[in-house]
Amino acid sequence: MTFPPDAPGLLVEGARLTLGGTPILRGVSLSVARGEFVALLGPSGCGKTSLMRVIAGIQSADSGVVRIGGREVTRLHPAERDIAMVFQSYALYPHLTVAQNIAVPLTMRRLSAWQRMPLLGGLLPGSRTARAAIGADVARIAGPLGLSHLLARKPGQLSGGQRQRVALARAVIREPGAFLLDEPLSNLDAALRVTTRREIVEIHRRVGAATLYVTHDQSEALTMADRVAVMQAGEILQIASPEVIYREPVDLRVACFIGSPRINRLEAAIGEDGVVRVAGAATCLHSAARGAVTLAIRPEDWIIPGDGLAARVEHTEFLGDHALLHLRLGTEAVIMRAGPGALPHPGETLRLGFDPARALLFGPEGRRILAHRREAARV
Ligand SMILES: Nc1ncnc2c1ncn2[C@@H]1O[C@H](COP(=O)(O)OP(=O)(O)OP(=O)(O)O)[C@@H](O)[C@H]1O
Ligand SMILES: [Mg+2]
Repeated sequence: MTFPPDAPGLLVEGARLTLGGTPILRGVSLSVARGEFVALLGPSGCGKTSLMRVIAGIQSADSGVVRIGGREVTRLHPAERDIAMVFQSYALYPHLTVAQNIAVPLTMRRLSAWQRMPLLGGLLPGSRTARAAIGADVARIAGPLGLSHLLARKPGQLSGGQRQRVALARAVIREPGAFLLDEPLSNLDAALRVTTRREIVEIHRRVGAATLYVTHDQSEALTMADRVAVMQAGEILQIASPEVIYREPVDLRVACFIGSPRINRLEAAIGEDGVVRVAGAATCLHSAARGAVTLAIRPEDWIIPGDGLAARVEHTEFLGDHALLHLRLGTEAVIMRAGPGALPHPGETLRLGFDPARALLFGPEGRRILAHRREAARV
């Protein structure tokens, strides 16, 4: 863990969950420091929402510990955990206006049951001042989320994206110890997604809570987060900064999940001399490991003209600021990202090299193996 168990923030240790005989969480440990934004990224069905439910206390885990703000909350009711959450399926109160919906967490906290009564409440001492303060807080949060002109409407009069932003505003209005956001942008169109992303990051900075943000959109995870936790099949495979996740994946599954187009994977072998060979041809890499391995090269890390592997051009895709070359290297199909300049023709043979500092090697179990540039190497 990156911070001690009693530090403020969010800490999950060894969370296990089995539902109907199926393991859903297989011992998940995760920390989010106060003020930190961690994206939880993984394919559909890998257990992201289940983990959020366990943290929120909606689902109890079979084992494991949850701490929020230095306090163990494993056995506490959701309302006692000092968290705010926005889930994929959010619920607004249909009979309340947007302003009243956003204000719910504050009215529950700052007004007594008597003060909350519709008519009588307004007459009680202190009620007017408290309500004015709540109104000011609602206005402050509604502005950046583009909701100011909608405050008097009911949820039924809003679009899906607007409703989602109301749910977001309601979650962030009271400054909790931890925010749990589960795909809060899934109903927004592409343009609104981009602006709302920025707003979420800004709100997070302002509030300074520990934020755990679930997404299966890798560009969202990479652009928003201080650290990204990559989850698959109920396990967190790696948690690190976006750069490290992209450049230094510890597992082949992380390397393949991050990056678009997908990283190229080539079957390779390391001989007794430690030289990494692809289809019998020596590459520029050397490793202390031996035997069958996977060489993984990102599309942008190929070099042409290189001095080694012969690749036949199958077809090319011009995409404005760059192009994708679809190549065949022996029996394997590989993709190269190239500049938009003169493109090779289908059928041409290219000499392909790669940057040894950026190449990744993985062992038979998919764990990363260290490799380095071979002396006087020719690719
Ligand atoms: N009550 C349940 N009983 C059995 N299995 C369940 C139950 N609830 C969820 N699951 C299974 O648990 C797994 C994880 O579900 P979860 O909702 O956590 O995935 P997710 O990562 O949030 O996916 P998505 O990206 O689609 O939202 C899925 O395979 C799901 O089918
Ligand atoms: Mg989910």
